[in-house]
Amino acid sequence: MSALNGKTIVLGVCGGIAAFKAAALCSKLTQAGAKVHVIMTASATKFVAPLTFQTLSRHEVAIDTFDEKDASVVQHIDLADRADLVIVAPASANTIAKIALGLGDDMLSTTLLATTAPILVAPAMNVHMYANPAVEQNMRTLADRGIRFIEPGTGQLACGYVGKGRLAEPEDIVRAVELHFAERGRLTGKRVLITAGGTVERIDPVRYLTNDSSGKMGYALAEAAVRMGAEVTLISGKAAIPAPSGVKLVRVDSALDMLEAVMSRLPDQDVIIKAAAVADYRPAERHEHKLKKSDDELTLTLIKNPDILQQIGELKTHQFVVGFAAETRNIEAFAMDKLRRKRCDLLVANDVSAEGAGFGTDTNIVSVYDRSGFVEALPMMGKREVATHLLHLIADRLGKGETADT
Ligand code: PMT
Repeated sequence: MSALNGKTIVLGVCGGIAAFKAAALCSKLTQAGAKVHVIMTASATKFVAPLTFQTLSRHEVAIDTFDEKDASVVQHIDLADRADLVIVAPASANTIAKIALGLGDDMLSTTLLATTAPILVAPAMNVHMYANPAVEQNMRTLADRGIRFIEPGTGQLACGYVGKGRLAEPEDIVRAVELHFAERGRLTGKRVLITAGGTVERIDPVRYLTNDSSGKMGYALAEAAVRMGAEVTLISGKAAIPAPSGVKLVRVDSALDMLEAVMSRLPDQDVIIKAAAVADYRPAERHEHKLKKSDDELTLTLIKNPDILQQIGELKTHQFVVGFAAETRNIEAFAMDKLRRKRCDLLVANDVSAEGAGFGTDTNIVSVYDRSGFVEALPMMGKREVATHLLHLIADRLGKGETADT
């Protein structure tokens, strides 16, 4: 049986010559067993008649927000609520900009605003439009919110140019949709707790000790875990990016706050992933008032913070525990030492001195270890790709019922 069987898919079609390919997409999704509801923008109707989509989907096509056919529901909210997935194909630069800005001025944009379902966007436009910095920035904004893209192909474009901007082929979009639903089931029913970002250790009300963690690695893990169907709690220290949608976000400041937030939730979790950069030491004293400048030298006394991962390792029962290690040398030896001491099931080591790895970057280079030793080394990848890969590895091991004590 197809992964799409019985799924409700809202297909948003924007104005552009590629709208004709959306008809083939609609047909393939319907044939695979999905219930497809098409929303067309007014410009899309200039390229393809709504009747084409109505015939292929066997559902009325929605175009005008105010053309309410069923008095018992508000149509754009009803479609938004019913969707298991929303696909925008072809997605025009205009609609991408509207999603980025949160505008709702037609049936498609209001539905996109109202839905909590995952959104897949397949852009199609002229090569220069696709490379325009405004479009690029809007796509980055969408990606940061967890919206996924199906990249356009390169080739002859209808406008006469040759380059990137051609709507992905309907078969490729269907494959991406199948993958989406297959991935979604992998962590369904699992509770995953992820820590991210850097802790902040206060000296006085305006000064603190912290580190360069941006939260990107932990947030990418949270986003991927949500996509795979998990119930995700993200415990975040200082981070430079917005939290992915669909997570339960708990903001913390210091290592002591993080310890409390993690340990109080430990018994309910199935998986713990500790990507946060936790300060090993904190100022012995936290001054109530701003310190005044006086002598030429100021000595700060630091005291050791509790090791949260180690405490998890000591108290865990059934939880699958994944630690991270930020190293600059002797990676394997230090990683294996941390894995054993902190009783992790997996340990992900990054050489934070390597270009494209570690703190603040969009990419990472990691090696993974388990209790038997080296598992794999991943080449440089985007943090989102690293996160997806790691969560599949975790899901594989959960499937086998593995924890450190088995
Ligand atoms: O946030 P980004 O900018 O994307 O950067 C990502 C990252 C480099 C922060 C991330 O990939 C990473 O390596 N996180 C762990 C950083 C770290 O604190 O490593 P460590 O080797 O010092 O600690 C080992 C493990 O023990 C970590 O899982 C850490 O969360 C945990 N720990 C450490 C100290 C402490 N007091 N309590 C802990 O729980």
